[in-house]
Parts: sequence; structure tokens; C-alpha cells
Amino acid sequence: MEGISAEKAIALENEYGAKNYHPLPVVLSRGEGVYLYDVEGKKYYDFLSAYSAVNQGHCHPKIIDALHTQAARLTLTSRAFHNDILGQYEKYITEYFGYDRVLPMNTGVEGGETAVKLCRKWAYEVKKVPINQAKIIFVEGNFWGRTLAAISTSTDPSSRNGFGPYMPGFELIPYNDIPALEKALQDPHVAGFMLEPIQGEAGVFVPEDGYLRKAYELCQKHKVLFIADEVQTGIARTGKLLACDYEGVKPDILILGKALSGGVFPVSAVLSSHEIMLTIKPGEHGSTFGGNPLACAVALAALEVVKNEKLAENATRLGNIFRERMEVLISKTKLVKLVRGKGLLNAIVINDSQESKTAWNICLKLMENGLLAKPTHGNIIRFAPPLVMTETQLLDCCAIIEKTILEFA
Ligand SMILES: Cc1ncc(COP(=O)(O)O)c(C=O)c1O
Repeated sequence: MEGISAEKAIALENEYGAKNYHPLPVVLSRGEGVYLYDVEGKKYYDFLSAYSAVNQGHCHPKIIDALHTQAARLTLTSRAFHNDILGQYEKYITEYFGYDRVLPMNTGVEGGETAVKLCRKWAYEVKKVPINQAKIIFVEGNFWGRTLAAISTSTDPSSRNGFGPYMPGFELIPYNDIPALEKALQDPHVAGFMLEPIQGEAGVFVPEDGYLRKAYELCQKHKVLFIADEVQTGIARTGKLLACDYEGVKPDILILGKALSGGVFPVSAVLSSHEIMLTIKPGEHGSTFGGNPLACAVALAALEVVKNEKLAENATRLGNIFRERMEVLISKTKLVKLVRGKGLLNAIVINDSQESKTAWNICLKLMENGLLAKPTHGNIIRFAPPLVMTETQLLDCCAIIEKTILEFA
């Protein structure tokens, strides 16, 4: 649809769409690298990257090239037949992340569902937990998507309330709390511990140094699978290929999504060992689109870009600069309480209640000033630009954020 006005585009969504989102009033029609353009041609820095799906930048030419080439050859066969690219992709991604096997899916939440099913199957076949008694421990504040299993573990009322009854077999403990984990692991029916190494959606909560390592060691001691949801933190976002790499932890099950396709379309993956992965037999799990040739070609290209362009190193370097600049800003205004994060996954906390509109209004001003970001949980603003950003661009963004917040204050 060419030439539609912003007002018309918003009116159509309002009239015909479900109201399950509350977007900023901007209508985007083009993206390139770190930039987005609205229907009037106004240029913005993207400081959300589609919740870290666009780590490689919008419409990365190498990824789009792979998409075009593969789209012209073969897009979908289902897994009823072999295709000539799936195996090559499986070899590439398992070697890339150092795992034996991969199970390809589409969305991040399907990756989480797959991990949960895999963990339960392993519990019955290998750990010998009595049938239907397996438990998986989750942490408060987790976010892994919107399916019934995912919301059954949620502590966020807006995700959870009104959608019961909930799925059994899940237990919640506080995040960043080793004694609570130790206590929960005493139950011999516990099969898995699933968490985000940094909680993204909850507002970029970084656990204490050593938490992941200790949690992993406790899981090993109790023969419990350590399941890392790196859908948002993975693929260079936090300054390492995986956020778990900071503590030398290799999850028993690793879930990836989002940037696995560079934001082109939904591609997710679950990686694990022979022992765990082979507990699922033909016909026991799958997806029509999982492992489709187009996804394989796109994901191969997306992972190559991350490596070739050293995006993890760039995220570390720019993340340090960003947080330093925000610390200086915090010293000048009471409006911002703190900045936290790792690499280019960061958030600032606005000094106002969760119910206040301050963070939303700041985001509206940022938008006016050419930078797109979105509040989470009322008073937190997540800042996660594409990892292909240059230092000059980042400094420009810091200046926009500083100017906007100081004017607002
Ligand atoms: C950590 C984490 N896991 C899973 C998901 C779900 O991914 P999707 O929306 O692709 O299902 C998200 C989405 O934000 C996420 O942040």
C-alpha cells in the first residue's frame, strides 16, 4: 500500500485490528541499518531494534540477499521431506554455539515451549522422574512469550490475569536468589531451571556477578537441566555471543530466537546435547514451518553477519560508552534514577511511579527528537539499538537522549 498517510494507517489499525498493543503514534515504512523512516520520510534512530530482533540492523543487505536468493528457489517443504539446506544450517548453528544438535522452530515462545517439552521428556526417560510429576523452576519477573505455558509461569498480572486455568508443573522462585534455588532443588522431581540470563522484558534486570555460575553448578549437582532463554540476550546483544558466556556457563538447553533471522521473520532454535535432544522421537514434536529452507538461509546469513562484523565486540564497546554518558546525565537530573544493562541491552529507570505517564511522555519527546524507544512496566525505558551502530551515531543518540531528558526535567 503506497502513499498512505500516518493518520489513515493508524485509523485502519484502530478500526480493524485487535487492541492488544499500545504503540507510539509513529507509522514506519522503511528501515535501513540503525535508522527507521516514517511515512512522511522523517528519519529516526531505532533504539528498540524490535526487542533485539534487529541486532544486525534493518534490511541488512547480506541477509536480504540470502532471503531473495532462497525465496526464488524453495521456501517450504515441511519436514515430511528433506531439503537441501536444513542439514547445512544445522551443522553451522550447532558448531557456531558448540552444541550437538538443534531443533528449529519459529517464534521465541515456541523455542521456550520446545525446551519445556524436551526437559519433561528427559526427566521421564533419563532422570526417571515418575510420569507426569516433573517440575520446572522459573524465576519471578520472567518473560518468555504469550502461550498458555508461558503465561502460566508469569508474575506479570497483565500477561496472566484473565487467561486461566494455568498449566501445572511449574514453580516460581525469586530471581537472583541462590538460597531459594538451592531449596527448590531439594525436590527430586525437579527436572529443569529456566531463566533469562538478564531479564529483558521485566526491565533489563542484571543479576549479581556469579549468580548464573552458582545456579548452573547447583543444577549440575542435583541433575537438573539449566535452560537459558537467550531469545533476547543472545546473538551478541549483551556484548558476548551469549549472555551466559560472561560466567563461562554452557546451558544444557539453549533457546534462541529474534536476531537469529536479523528481524526478517520468525526463526527460533533450541540447542542441546545428543542425550537430551534424542529423547524426542519422530512425531512427538514439530512445526510446519520450523526448519524451512527460507529460515535456514536467512539464519545462516544472519549468524555470519554477527561474526564477520564483530557485533559482540561493538556492543561491548558502545555499551560502555552509553552507560558512562547516562551516568553523567543522572548526575545532572533527578528525573533518571539509574542506568543498568550489559552491552547494548540497557535501561534507564525514571524517578516516578510505575503508574505515571512520565516515561511514556519522555518517549514521545524522544520520538519528536528523532529517536524511537518504548517504556516497559511504566517507569523503565529500554535502550537497545541495532548492534551495527557506529560510535558517532551512538554519541549522536546520547545527545538526543540527554537533551530530551534535561528539557523534560
Ligand atoms: C526472553 C524472551 N523469551 C521469549 C520471547 C518470546 O519471543 P516471541 O515473541 O518471538 O514468541 C521473548 C519476547 O520478547 C523474550 O524476550
